[in-house]
Amino acid sequence: MTDDVLVVHGGTPLEGRIRVRGAKNLVSKAMVAALLGDTPSRLFDVPKIRDVEVVRGLLGLHGVKVTDGEEEGELVFDPANVESASTDQINVHAGSSRIPILFCGPLLHRLGHAFIPDLGGCHIGPRPIDFHLQALREFGATVDKRPEGLHLSAPNGLRGTKFSLPYPSVGATEQVLLTAVMAEGVTELRNAAVEPEILDLICVLQKMGAIIKVHTDRVIEIQGVPKLHGYTHRPIPDRIEAASWAAAALATRGHVEVLGAQQADMMTFLNIFRSVGGEYEVTDLRPPRNGRPGQEGGIRFWHPGGELKSVALETDVHPGFMTDWQQPLVVALTQARGLSIVHETVYEQRLGYTEALNSMGANIQVYRDCLGGTPCRFGRRNFKHSAVIAGPSKLHAADLVIPDLRAGFSHLIAALAAEGTSRVYGVDLINRGYEDFEAKLADLGAHAERP
Ligand code: EPU
Repeated sequence: MTDDVLVVHGGTPLEGRIRVRGAKNLVSKAMVAALLGDTPSRLFDVPKIRDVEVVRGLLGLHGVKVTDGEEEGELVFDPANVESASTDQINVHAGSSRIPILFCGPLLHRLGHAFIPDLGGCHIGPRPIDFHLQALREFGATVDKRPEGLHLSAPNGLRGTKFSLPYPSVGATEQVLLTAVMAEGVTELRNAAVEPEILDLICVLQKMGAIIKVHTDRVIEIQGVPKLHGYTHRPIPDRIEAASWAAAALATRGHVEVLGAQQADMMTFLNIFRSVGGEYEVTDLRPPRNGRPGQEGGIRFWHPGGELKSVALETDVHPGFMTDWQQPLVVALTQARGLSIVHETVYEQRLGYTEALNSMGANIQVYRDCLGGTPCRFGRRNFKHSAVIAGPSKLHAADLVIPDLRAGFSHLIAALAAEGTSRVYGVDLINRGYEDFEAKLADLGAHAERP
């Protein structure tokens, strides 16, 4: 733990330009999809993050040859020799990511059975997998829960089904997509999640030969096909990382251009950013012309000076305000005049990180009530899932321990915004989802070093 610390000298505005690559929450799923093809797949712009390494390791264990392509960030997946892996080998990856659960459908199609280790991912509530297992059973899979993990089999193959999700879960929607594409017959999924990362996964599957219709009102219809081939795909950029740097610019009174950030996927964030008093400019991609160099597209975010304004927001499924955007933004909200309200409706326990901000001088109270918005499913279940942030507060340095990925980034932003020298422990967790974040901090002029 003592090696895993970043010493941050705060109080300097972040200034400069960084680039985001393929979205973590699409790239890892596209990698799993490669298992379904009978020819190699090629994925570009893959960030060097821990989640990618975990999926790469799991694919390798199952006989998928993963190699680096010619372009920086390109991975090539050859699924010619998909094979079973031993539970011991797979268990090395237990607790390191949530992605293994998405191997169920593809492995059942390819091998007729699957073993899934205990899942990991961020500790932001119980994070059950009941929707996933219910869906897999609907397709005809048998699920045997044992202490070491889940054993699944489908001796008679998988068949299309009609299924409605109790909540538009991102992971469960992906589970259904990755299973239904090669199941026999038609699958109709109701109350599906329609996040941009899901639509991009649908693009990947369509490139592989799948037939998927996205209807209105969160209904997705999948016509199973017997065979899929490999894909070539450049993923959508990481809108969570882009928003995280935008929030860092605002909280430190800085100016950060995020190359690769896309307006269409970030509209809800941009509206809130502007309501708080932040400014941004969308810089469109310009190809080189008449000897003039081209320009990569992105979004410039900055603090225009003066005071920020308080806002009320609630996190929600797409097209709502992403739950992963709230932790970085809350740091900026500690600098806004008045009372801001954040109602977290996606995860029941995603506000614990505010205690660390309070230890730095922020004034944040958390409540069990559904504040400021419509009642959500956590209102009557005794979870502290609403926050009131009173500002502006002068943040001072502190020793912080990172609890999970997004909260970790918010701790980092708070340390950068605070006066004095903070020690942020557990920073390696940030590498799960933010590529080269220490190099990016240096590019933005932050004063942070390993002791
Ligand atoms: N849920 C259930 N049962 C299930 C599945 C989900 O009750 O079987 C509940 C969850 O407990 C949660 C809600 O449904 O309350 C939404 O969960 P969802 O399944 O949508 O989340 P996920 O697929 O596990 C992905 C991202 C998260 C992101 C959420 C919401 C990945 C690898 N993770 O998680 O990202 O917050 O969707 O957009 O794609 C992150 O990147 O740091 C991260 C946590």
